[in-house]
Formats: sequence, structure tokens, C-alpha cells
Amino acid sequence: MPRKATRKSNPINDLDLERWKEYDDILTDSLWFFPERDRSGAHLGDYHGNFIPQIPYQAMRRYTRAGDIVLDPFLGSGTTLIECRRLGRHGIGLDLKEPLTRAVRKRVGAEDNPFQVRTSILHTDSGDIEGSSRKIRRSLRTLDRDEVQLAILHPPYHSIIRFSDSPMDLSNCESTTQFLERFGQVVDLTTRFLEDKRYLVLVIGDIYENGNWIPLAFQCTQEVMKRGYQLKSIVVKDMQGNRAKRNLGQIWRYRALAGGFYIFKHEYVIFFRKN
Ligand SMILES: C[S@@+](CC[C@H](N)C(=O)[O-])C[C@H]1O[C@@H](n2cnc3c(N)ncnc32)[C@H](O)[C@@H]1O
Repeated sequence: MPRKATRKSNPINDLDLERWKEYDDILTDSLWFFPERDRSGAHLGDYHGNFIPQIPYQAMRRYTRAGDIVLDPFLGSGTTLIECRRLGRHGIGLDLKEPLTRAVRKRVGAEDNPFQVRTSILHTDSGDIEGSSRKIRRSLRTLDRDEVQLAILHPPYHSIIRFSDSPMDLSNCESTTQFLERFGQVVDLTTRFLEDKRYLVLVIGDIYENGNWIPLAFQCTQEVMKRGYQLKSIVVKDMQGNRAKRNLGQIWRYRALAGGFYIFKHEYVIFFRKN
């Protein structure tokens, strides 16, 4: 339900700009370092390829109001929905791994729900626009709504981590071209449900393949912008603590020196506004 904005507020969040100096928890710089992952409550941090809860937290604080709905078409272990419960936002999460969605339902259900929000976990291929639309619409109907107010997309970084054997899984795409096409379909699905002037947040990293740095993040950015979104910010996030990179430091240093490249220590959080 849209509420009337007060003079010193932004209509897409609950921040009171009269008190802007008090919001120490909210980042406004384009370089993000988080010394530690939030491991509290249902955030177990045990899913290979998850993101840290601070990412959806930052996005929801800036770009949603209490009672808004957040869509995550690459839900994984449910990080976004756990944050939804804590912040009083409804959430709809999609993933194509059936046993995972079952386990995540339990995990998210274990998190307190002080604001009595609804978090729906849908087992579906997000690239199947019609099939997924039907399921999302059904979830929205239970809330008596037809749009979401924030979308958070954290797709596989192409083939860096293989999430399943399914040919529909974006981590199994045969080429970057196919990956971008499939990613574009998920953006199309998202666009159907995202309210105008609201934000789409993309979390992605580049990849290194056969001696080439593939600027996957920028290619995905193009896919989003092609669909009429306005690019608002590119945040570089430090990822030195990520599991895949830990313990391999010396091997990668040798490879970098031998191969004439630099080692990835960052990923991106990219903010778009739907126009
Ligand atoms: C990078 S992970 C997301 C992790 C999540 N942010 C978390 O914190 O756990 C990407 C997820 O996308 C899912 N996925 C890949 N292709 C998909 C598709 N076509 N439809 C739905 N989910 C898909 C994978 O199963 C995986 O769980």
C-alpha cells in the first residue's frame, strides 16, 4: 500500500532524512568491505556460492519500506528471505534445486518473524518466464498485491560454481553468450513484476577463462540496461574472505605472476532503477 511521503523522506525507504547523521549502518560509498559475515540466527553461511547477508540488508534499507515485497529469482540458501523477516519485508524467492528449496523453507521458517511477513519459496526455473510468472502471481495474490518493490539478482558467475546438473541452471550454460541470453530472460521475468521507479540489484563477479578476463558483470549490466533500466551505481565489494579463494593464495599468486594477470579480489553490487 503506497504511503504518503513526509517532507524529509524518500518514498522508497523508511529513512528519515532529518536524522540522516544517525544511520551509521547504511553505506553510501562505492567500495564495500565487511570485516565479518553476519552468522546470526538462520544465517549459517554454509551454502557454497551464497552472498553475505549484509548485501540484501543494505539494499532493503535503502530501497524498500516496511511491508514492501522483495523478489529474489536466484534464492540459493535463502539469505534474502531471512533478511526480509528481520526487516519486515515480504519476500518471494525462486530456485530450481528442489531439495534445496525444501531445506530452505525449513531454514527460513526457523528465523523469528516479528513483523509477521510472508516469505514464499518457489521451486522453479527463473528463465521459464510463463511458468515462473504463474507461481509468482499466485504468491502475490496471497498478499493481495501484483508487484514487487525490490529485486535482488545473484546469479551463478557462469561456470565458476556448478550448482546442479540441470540444463536450465545458468551455471551449466555452454558459452558466455548463452549465459547472457538466459540471464536476460530472468531480467525479463523480474521486469514483469517490479514496480516502476523501483530498484533491481545485481550481485555478480567477473571470470577468468582460457587466459582471458571475461567482464561478465559489465556484460550483465548491458543486458539490464538494454531493457530500459537506469544504471544508478556500481559498487566494488571486497571478497577476499570467500571460501573459493581461501587457502589457494600462493597457488594463485604463482599463476598470476606466470600468466601476467591480477587475481580477483572483488565482486560487484550493481544498482539499477526501473524507468
Ligand atoms: C549464486 S547462487 C545464489 C546464492 C544466494 N544469494 C544465497 O545467499 O544463498 C545462485 C543460485 O541460482 C540458482 N539457479 C541457477 N540457475 C537457475 C535458474 N534457471 N532458475 C532458478 N534458479 C537458478 C542456483 O541453484 C543457485 O542456488
